[in-house]
Amino acid sequence: MEQLPVFYNVKGRKVVVTGGGTVAARRTEISLRSGAHVTVFAESLSDEFLEFRGRADLTHVTRAPVLDDLTDAVIAFGASEDEAIDGALYKLTRKAGVPANIADVPEQCDFIMASIVDRSPLVIAVSSSGTAPILSRMIRARLETMLPASYGRLAEFAGQFRELVAHKLSSGLARRKFWERTIYGPTADLVLAGDETRAEQQLRSELHAMVREEEGRPIGQVFLVGAGPGDPDLLTFRALRLMQLADVVVHDRLIGEGVLNLVRRDAERVYVGKRPRDHTLPQEEISQLLVRLAKEGKRVLRLKGGDPFIFGRGGEEIETLAAEGVPFQVVPGITAASGCSSYAGIPLTHRDHAQSCVFVTAHGRDGVIDLDWTSLLRPRQTVAIYMGLGSLDTVTGEFIARGADRDLPAAIVDNGTRANQQVITGTLGTIAELAASAQVKGPALVIIGTVVSLRDQLQWFEGETSNPNLAERSISTELLI
Ligand SMILES: C[S@@+](CC[C@H](N)C(=O)[O-])C[C@H]1O[C@@H](n2cnc3c(N)ncnc32)[C@H](O)[C@@H]1O
Repeated sequence: MEQLPVFYNVKGRKVVVTGGGTVAARRTEISLRSGAHVTVFAESLSDEFLEFRGRADLTHVTRAPVLDDLTDAVIAFGASEDEAIDGALYKLTRKAGVPANIADVPEQCDFIMASIVDRSPLVIAVSSSGTAPILSRMIRARLETMLPASYGRLAEFAGQFRELVAHKLSSGLARRKFWERTIYGPTADLVLAGDETRAEQQLRSELHAMVREEEGRPIGQVFLVGAGPGDPDLLTFRALRLMQLADVVVHDRLIGEGVLNLVRRDAERVYVGKRPRDHTLPQEEISQLLVRLAKEGKRVLRLKGGDPFIFGRGGEEIETLAAEGVPFQVVPGITAASGCSSYAGIPLTHRDHAQSCVFVTAHGRDGVIDLDWTSLLRPRQTVAIYMGLGSLDTVTGEFIARGADRDLPAAIVDNGTRANQQVITGTLGTIAELAASAQVKGPALVIIGTVVSLRDQLQWFEGETSNPNLAERSISTELLI
C-alpha cells in the first residue's frame, strides 16, 4: 500500500483552506460535513460558497494565512489553484507540522482525498493512491449504484442494538454470525424498505435463534437463489448478499466459474450437477441434502441457473424444506429466455411481431415430449424452448407436421450471456441441421417466431471478442469478493 487508509476525526477542530473557487468550495463542504470548523483564506468567495453563508463553523478571512493561523489547525488544504498562494501555505504547514493537501501537486500532499460513497454513518473511500483517479471514480460510481441510499439508515439501526446483542451473545463468533445474518437478511431488507418496526421484530427473533444456536440447538436456513444464465453481472443484489453469507453452496452444472467466484471464499462447495440423462444426484437426494445441511445449523446456498422456479425444480426443493420445517427464502434470477433474448438482440415480444411469448421445455418426463403443439403455433407468438437442443429435430418436425411455415424464423442461443455465446439463426426447416453442423453443445435456448428476424438489426453483444464490459467485469468481480 502506498498510503495508510485512515478516517480522521476533525469534529470541532480547525481546518484551513486557501482559495474561494470550485476546489476550495468542495474541500470546505466535505470538511464542514465532517464537523470541522473551517477557516477559508481568500480575497473573495465564489457563488459556490453561498450555501455555507452565515454558518458559525465557517470563517472567511480575506488576507493570506500566516504561521499563527496554522498552530491550532489539524489539516490544511491548498485549494486556490494558484501555485504561489498554495505553495506559501505548504511552506507554513511544514513549519507548523500540519498535514497538507495541495490540489494537483502530489508531491505536496501528506494525504490524498479519496473518492467517497457517503451513506453516513457508513462511508466508503476508494483510492488508487493517486495513480488512476478516473478508475477510483469509476469504482465509486459502481458502488454508488450498488448501495441504496438508505444504507446509512441501516448502519444507524444496527448501532441501536449493538449493546443488546453484546449482552445476549457471549462469543465473538456468534456476534459476527448474527450481524452477518442481520445485514444480509430480511432485517436489512425491512430497514431499507423503511419498515423499522418489523425490522426490529425480525432482529429480535433472529437474536433468539442465534442464542439457541449458541446453546447448541441451532436452526439453519436455505437460500434458494437464481444465479441467472451465466453473466455474473446479471445477479441480483440480494443473490450477491446471500452468496457472501453462505456456509455451504450446493450448485449445479449451469453455474459458471464467474458466478461461483462470488460466493464467500471459505464456503464449502457441493456439486450436484445434472446433465440430461446423467443425474449426478437424484432430485430427492438433493432436497434431503439441503435439509440435512440446514439442520446442522448451516446457511445453505442452493444456487440454481436462471430462475429457480422456471424449469428449475426449485418448487420441489422448497416443498421438502417446508415439510421438514426448515426456514428458507427464494431469490428470483434472470431466466435463460430473458437473458438469451436480450444478449442475442431478439426481443421476445414486439408490437409488430409478437404479443405473447411462451416458455416450454422439450425435456419431458421419461423422455416423452408432451407439448400442446396447437397452442404453441398461435400467430404473433414467440416460443422459447428450454432443453430443446437434443430433440430439436423432433420438435421442429412436430411443428411443421401441424402446418407451421417451414420458413418461420428460428434461433439457437448457445451459452447465452456468457463470453462464449454463439447465436445461430435459420428457420423451422433448417435450424436443426444448422445446430448439428455447428456442433452446438449447450446449454442452449431455442427461440421460434418472427421476432428472430430483428436480430440482424438489434444484435449488440459479441462475447469475448469485442465486448468492452468484459474487461471491466473482472474489476467488479474483484470488488465484490
Ligand atoms: C434445467 S433448465 C434450467 C432453466 C433455468 N432455471 C432458467 O430459468 O433459465 C436448463 C436449460 O435452460 C437453458 N439455459 C440455461 N442457461 C442457459 C444459457 N446460458 N444459454 C442458453 N440456454 C440456457 C437451456 O435450455 C438449458 O438446457
